[in-house]
Amino acid sequence: MSTLLQLNTSLFSTGGQSSKLADEFVAGWRASHPGSKVIVRDLAHDPVPHLSAERFQAFLAKPEERTPDQRAVVDYSDTLIDELRRADVIVLGLPMYNFGVPSTLKAYFDHIARVGVTFRYTEKGPVGLLNGKKVYVFATRGGVYQGADSETAFVRQFLNFLGLADVEFVYAEGLAIGDAAKQAGLARAQVAIRRLTAPEALAA
Ligand SMILES: Cc1cc2nc3c(=O)[nH]c(=O)nc-3n(C[C@H](O)[C@H](O)[C@H](O)COP(=O)(O)O)c2cc1C
Repeated sequence: MSTLLQLNTSLFSTGGQSSKLADEFVAGWRASHPGSKVIVRDLAHDPVPHLSAERFQAFLAKPEERTPDQRAVVDYSDTLIDELRRADVIVLGLPMYNFGVPSTLKAYFDHIARVGVTFRYTEKGPVGLLNGKKVYVFATRGGVYQGADSETAFVRQFLNFLGLADVEFVYAEGLAIGDAAKQAGLARAQVAIRRLTAPEALAA
């Protein structure tokens, strides 16, 4: 049985354009994976706290020396990481806010990047430990960037760092330019979703 983890990061929760595109993909994916499991984590509804010195110290403390508060911080991070580990497919709804990722997603990233847990250092550099998963990103923007933007580069770099190398971006751009541009941007994304959820694409 396959497991899909859907991460919604829009301020508008399920009402965000990125969440809706992610939903469309997940509906198509489910049709080809009967009996599969879908887990939804909504960072607007259930935000991850900002990383603080105290929280980071909890990650670094030796397990046997952690205080109860530190254990709670690590348990929370472990829960987020276990959810990722159990997923075969990860779906990320990704709006662009002020040229970057939603701050809720950055806080989430700060809680899943753990040395010795999701990556490790070797003589040849860092190695990611979350391997063998496919990631689909549904990126929505008011403007048009065509992949040449720092948000795309950052998200790809971060996922690759954790070992998530197979990352497919679908863009819906121009959503704030006007109604025609918005409809065209969404329609292009929907064509890509239909292509990606065609049974022959999912079997590949
Ligand atoms: C606070 C805020 C900041 C935004 N900043 C940008 C931006 O820097 N560049 C851009 O192209 N669009 C920007 N937009 C437009 C959003 O990317 C667009 O509305 C997109 O649909 C948001 O995805 P969502 O509906 O899933 O939240 C911004 C929107 C908001 C609400």
